[in-house]
Amino acid sequence: MSNTQKKLLLQVENLSIGFTQYVKGTEQRVIRPISDLQVDIHEGEIVAVVGASGSGKSLLAHAVLGILPGNAICEGEIRYRGETMTDERKAKLRGREISFIPQSVNYLDPLMTVGKQVQIGLDKNEATRVQQALFQQYGLKKSDGKLYPHELSGGMLRRVLFATSVRKGVRLVIADEPTPGIHPALLAEILKQLEQFAKEGAGVMLITHDLMSALEIADRVAVIRDGRTIEISDAEAFEGKGERLKNEYTQRLWRALPQNDFDLEFQGKGGLT
Ligand SMILES: Nc1ncnc2c1ncn2[C@@H]1O[C@H](COP(=O)(O)OP(=O)(O)OP(=O)(O)O)[C@@H](O)[C@H]1O
Ligand SMILES: [Mg+2]
Repeated sequence: MSNTQKKLLLQVENLSIGFTQYVKGTEQRVIRPISDLQVDIHEGEIVAVVGASGSGKSLLAHAVLGILPGNAICEGEIRYRGETMTDERKAKLRGREISFIPQSVNYLDPLMTVGKQVQIGLDKNEATRVQQALFQQYGLKKSDGKLYPHELSGGMLRRVLFATSVRKGVRLVIADEPTPGIHPALLAEILKQLEQFAKEGAGVMLITHDLMSALEIADRVAVIRDGRTIEISDAEAFEGKGERLKNEYTQRLWRALPQNDFDLEFQGKGGLT
């Protein structure tokens, strides 16, 4: 289905995020890591958000979710299902209609067993059963549910994080680097699950450094550089030598991949890793 037929789910326009910082005790200054970000996601669409480390991808996710730190100044427009997002609305939707797979496993509660954490937000009557089914699906043992985060490896914690996002009634999934350093089989499973969310009509924002994996499932790709959206292109435009890509930076990003010319010099200077 083309985007013109699909309903817009999330619209981020002219997003700007700054932080007030104190220098020399009392002097204030504002740094602005995000200055002009745009991205939109339709129902049933997967949009990959790619960009180098520090380009502002996690801040974008946190702005949509309403979990920016208190000293952040957030401007611009975020609309969800046609309506402006207020802080109250974000808090209401977070963990329910809008699910989040955070980049860091530190988002897990260190004082709660991982089984209990996956049960949060599930229907009481079926919470244990659904949680155990999710554990099985993502290669965790039943007994792992009784463990606390510090007792699990990094890879296992990423599986737990992913399991917390699978909920009935989810309309938007924001996955912030869900796949770093994980086993290829689990990578395939996670991509399949994200595709499944989209098939069921949810929109998916897939933030990643792994452009090749993202292209396997993404409909469009938004490229972020220094807090700005420099390109939004259909995933199909990432082919050949990248002639159909609009921005030179994106073309270089594409050509720097090992499958293409493998421009090592660019990998070091501005590439995704
Ligand atoms: N609380 C904060 N106070 C000040 N600056 C911040 C804060 N959080 C993030 N930044 C800055 O904003 C920029 C974007 O950060 P962000 O975490 O969104 O990057 P990212 O694209 O997610 O990077 P990565 O790929 O490494 O996860 C960085 O330069 C970072 O230092
Ligand atoms: Mg990040």
